[in-house]
Amino acid sequence: MSKPVGAITRGTTGHNRLRRADRWLAAVHAGSLRAAARPLVVDLGYGASHATTLELFTRLRLIVPDVEVVGIEIDPVRVAAAKPYEREGLSFRLGGFELPVSRPPALVRAFNVLRQYGEAQAWHRWDTLRAKLAPGGVLVEGTSSENGRRAVWVGLSREGPATITFSARFDAFERPSDLADRLPKTLIHRNVPGERIHAFLRDFDHAWAVSAAYGAHGARQRWLASVDVLARTWPVPVRPPLGGPARWRLGELTLPWAAVAPDR
Ligand SMILES: C[S@@+](CC[C@H](N)C(=O)[O-])C[C@H]1O[C@@H](n2cnc3c(N)ncnc32)[C@H](O)[C@@H]1O
Repeated sequence: MSKPVGAITRGTTGHNRLRRADRWLAAVHAGSLRAAARPLVVDLGYGASHATTLELFTRLRLIVPDVEVVGIEIDPVRVAAAKPYEREGLSFRLGGFELPVSRPPALVRAFNVLRQYGEAQAWHRWDTLRAKLAPGGVLVEGTSSENGRRAVWVGLSREGPATITFSARFDAFERPSDLADRLPKTLIHRNVPGERIHAFLRDFDHAWAVSAAYGAHGARQRWLASVDVLARTWPVPVRPPLGGPARWRLGELTLPWAAVAPDR
């Protein structure tokens, strides 16, 4: 076997760290996973413990009973540590960006992996990873806080980036732009005046400020009111699966990627 592509980085992870993203991908992408025969899901860079891969497997099996999940890690010590937790439909193997799997995955989740690479590498890996997807497949690449209460992720199809999602527990931020520290590597350096992502976070903060009165009914109501304000000037999807109150009430907001994409 040739050397896995990439570099061993910090293995920080934890139970339920990726719950918010898993909930989103189950709601938004269950249809395409169910449509595939024995869909293959890859969890790339699962870290020092198998925990978040097992959680992904457990969550997906509830809605897609024949899903197969493979955790891929570039650190052989972490692969050895995860091996005892293998079971029917769940396995762990050594590998990197080359994705050593036998068929194209319907879903690749890569969380808190690309942030540890340079910006040019992050763009490049978006392109090479999405090219490996099965038709209709999705790459979910994102960053979260260590406890998973704040997260931002991008959904990419084989054709390119499609969506960006902001997600936070209501007690984990003061204003929406606090999520800026979780932007993916492709955007983190673009959060400056003149860039779309900066304008969006500025407008989200403004919407949050003018919706302050709703806070009397709780942060959830204030978030819902803020999204209504934002939707007047930003192309917020307002219908399921990406939008609508059922998603927003979770402290979540999805936008088309094009709305915040930097000019490269
Ligand atoms: C910070 S941990 C994230 C763990 C888990 N995904 C999470 O979000 O909690 C990043 C992991 O990605 C691994 N990694 C980095 N580059 C990789 C690559 N190219 N292929 C596979 N794993 C990689 C690192 O070795 C590390 O264990």
